[in-house]
Amino acid sequence: MENVLIIDDNIKFAEDLELLLKSSYKIFRADTSFKGLEILKRNHISVVLLDLQLPDIPGLDMLEKIHSDFDALLPIIIITEYDDIQYVVKAMRLGAFDFLSKDFHVDLMKEKIEQALKQKNLKLRIDGLQNNVSFTDDSFIFACEEMKKINYEISKIANWDFDVLLLGETGVGKDLIASQIYQRSNRKDKPFVPVPLRSLSESVLESELFGHEKGAFTGADRMKIGKFESANKGIVYLPEISNLPENIQLKLLHFMQYKTITRVGHDSRKGELNLDVRLIMATNENLEELVKSGRMREDFYYRILGVNLKIPPLRERIEDVIPLSYYFLNKYSSQFGQMQYQFSDEVLTAFREYEWKGNIRELSNSIKNALTYTNDNILSLKDFPNITGRKNSLHLGLENLLYPDGNYPNFIDFELSNRIFYIKTMLKKAEGKISLAAKLSGLTPQGFRKIMKQLNINQ
Ligand SMILES: Nc1ncnc2c1ncn2[C@@H]1O[C@H](COP(=O)(O)OP(=O)(O)OP(=O)(O)O)[C@@H](O)[C@H]1O
Ligand SMILES: [Mg+2]
Repeated sequence: MENVLIIDDNIKFAEDLELLLKSSYKIFRADTSFKGLEILKRNHISVVLLDLQLPDIPGLDMLEKIHSDFDALLPIIIITEYDDIQYVVKAMRLGAFDFLSKDFHVDLMKEKIEQALKQKNLKLRIDGLQNNVSFTDDSFIFACEEMKKINYEISKIANWDFDVLLLGETGVGKDLIASQIYQRSNRKDKPFVPVPLRSLSESVLESELFGHEKGAFTGADRMKIGKFESANKGIVYLPEISNLPENIQLKLLHFMQYKTITRVGHDSRKGELNLDVRLIMATNENLEELVKSGRMREDFYYRILGVNLKIPPLRERIEDVIPLSYYFLNKYSSQFGQMQYQFSDEVLTAFREYEWKGNIRELSNSIKNALTYTNDNILSLKDFPNITGRKNSLHLGLENLLYPDGNYPNFIDFELSNRIFYIKTMLKKAEGKISLAAKLSGLTPQGFRKIMKQLNINQ
């Protein structure tokens, strides 16, 4: 039996809760935060049910304390008397697993505890993987810190039932992440319905999304249900929400607010249709600009921004480049005759330096193309004609990179991880003369020496 700790100063409530749960879990109770911490010290607790209004340490601080002092992965379910969404969202952002108001149904509570236990195991599995590269069940691959955080956010977001907006350049993995949210959510056994909107005209779009009644327009000789209705209890995924006609923006806004729709041509006297659908939306456009130029309604913009996740471009995820490259190499190799393919060292270096404007999609396509045309089982630069030439400016092909006025880019223009390379290159350029290297870098010789020391660079 798993151990569940209830921290709540309302003793009557905690007793009732214990009665309801004690057939399924071993229950511990604490009526102050301090007592809760004592129990956590001495017992292996699997889930904490935490009241936010505690007499000693405030709930939100307690939440952080449990994660920092005991177990960063310990699922904490917030129990709240208040439907203060801002407060709850804060708790969720701080890493709470879920929340329930105090008038919950006991089955719902059990379900949440079970989810929390499952989630904990999944996270342990992902975090525990060797060699620092993580895979989830659906080949979602990443190695960098930033993506580890995002992976954690995905799990959190999956469990809140809010609508979600995914932001990021083309090819960064928004579709993949939408499907990850779905698979980790409690809607995973219900429909997931992606609706690509780009190529459709306004009227087709509207009936595609919301359906139409018989006779709604010429040619509508039968009633048709839309994607929202067919996704009921599940998730509708809109992969590109920029450039939606205003009428559709209004309809979506209405849906997000009231969770109701009307089919095209529906008699308004008959009322609206209630649906339980969660929305995931994505865009690779800059939404502020769309609002400024009047192509997106401001109220729509603010509404969809509610819970959002920004996915960084591949050039800012350098540590992911090599794991992803091998992943695609293995994936496509099997389609090209089971040869043991390899990348040459130059290719791997070039991959890490390249800009990847098309992000992971471009990487994947480049490798697929290379395998299609190569005669060799070692893929070299000539197999990647698109790569040569454009470089990630953070990754300085410094040898050639002289700014028009004769200066090199400044040391401070570079991220920490690139600075070692930068300093070494500058030293080489200056043939080891520190005063010259410093001058080229826009630093004083003392400053340059200090940085060499900090970065552990010897001449
Ligand atoms: N972390 C990852 N691990 C493995 N494959 C990935 C990862 N991220 C993206 N991909 C793959 O890269 C391709 C592009 O990703 P996806 O279609 O999700 O991009 P997108 O952000 O939706 O792009 P667009 O804005 O153009 O629609 C897909 O084939 C996807 O499976
Ligand atoms: Mg997409």
